[in-house]
Amino acid sequence: MPETETHKTHTNSQGAPLKENPFRPSAGATPPQILGRAGVLDEFEYGLRLGSGAPGLLTIFTGARGIGKTVMLGAAHDIAREKGWAVISETATTGFMGRIGESMRGIAEELGSGPVNRKITAIAAAGFSITTQLPPERQVAWRTMGEELLKLLDDHGTGLIITVDEIHAADRGELAQLAASVQHFIQDRLPIGLVFAGLPAAVSDLLNEGVATFLRRADKIDLHAAAVREVEESFAATFSHASIKVSPGLVRQAAEATGGYPFLIQLVGYFLWREAEGNQGSLTSEAVDRAIAAANRRNVRTVIEAALAATSPKDLDFLAAMAEDDGPSLAGDIGRRIGAKTNLVANYRSRLLAAGLIESAGHGKVTFAIPGLRQHLRSQPGRP
Ligand SMILES: Nc1ncnc2c1ncn2[C@@H]1O[C@H](COP(=O)(O)OP(=O)(O)OP(=O)(O)O)[C@@H](O)[C@H]1O
Ligand SMILES: [Mg+2]
Repeated sequence: MPETETHKTHTNSQGAPLKENPFRPSAGATPPQILGRAGVLDEFEYGLRLGSGAPGLLTIFTGARGIGKTVMLGAAHDIAREKGWAVISETATTGFMGRIGESMRGIAEELGSGPVNRKITAIAAAGFSITTQLPPERQVAWRTMGEELLKLLDDHGTGLIITVDEIHAADRGELAQLAASVQHFIQDRLPIGLVFAGLPAAVSDLLNEGVATFLRRADKIDLHAAAVREVEESFAATFSHASIKVSPGLVRQAAEATGGYPFLIQLVGYFLWREAEGNQGSLTSEAVDRAIAAANRRNVRTVIEAALAATSPKDLDFLAAMAEDDGPSLAGDIGRRIGAKTNLVANYRSRLLAAGLIESAGHGKVTFAIPGLRQHLRSQPGRP
């Protein structure tokens, strides 16, 4: 599409101005419609009503890259805010405990003055912004401040939700500190909730390591692709509302090309819209083919290449051996193809599981966790 297209006013099939592209193929961006997640936050919402100690207030979202974990954290954030709860959203990079501490202080300040706030300000005086784990005396201050803040929020009939993204990458020491403090708040019947998100295998490793045993009680919600049928209905509704002309068969073709995978839903929708802009609000068969191809290319560049960049040559051999199969691969077959012994194959397997590149497919089988990965590996020179 020519560069100048971007600034032109586009028209729909009726000659009226076409709406702006609603699709959001970007990490963490809120999509126009959250598909395939009906009821997923019900337990959390119920927990906001019950308050302290409700099981839904301890939730971990897991799932492959691009499946929509960050979007679910955002949705939980919005629901909590609607119910009047305070929310702190963090990513588990080094120093997140300190940053949560600073945010707690900020919330207390926003709530206004009063004896509790003066106390919190005094406790927080030394600050929490440091780059590693909190030293012991700051941990005590963190917890005391948290208690004061939660009591204050409890008096208002609300509480605090902390969301932490990319939890699989968390420093184990910091995570243990957060878990211990939150457990302590819950024992004191204070209104606190934790919502985490991370890659599935890495999160289960983390829970099994015993850094934060109480997190094993969390509600683990494994996110999957949406139903293609639902994508088809959503595309059809979105395009018909915008008076973009496209045949039902082409809508189905586009929906099928996404496999229900959230990032691809946004990419395909986005490029379909771009095509419609370039053609007075109509989508031909060629335009749909071009949009799907563009979406797949972008998926390779943003998701697949990023995921593979951190993969060792040995692990790549393992993946290439898997790509020889048309469906799930048997560990034994992979071992034979790369000439590795069982225990070595198990090593590669667990590393790739933790990285979110592959997933278990039952009975000693594994399959690719990212759509398009198999095709991408097959298209690599020197690879099968
Ligand atoms: N339920 C959904 N329905 C439609 N689109 C969605 C849905 N969830 C997420 N998306 C879209 O998919 C893309 C990826 O979402 P998100 O960044 O939340 O994934 P993620 O699981 O956090 O990925 P990563 O592991 O890379 O952090 C975004 O473009 C987002 O708008
Ligand atoms: Mg994310």
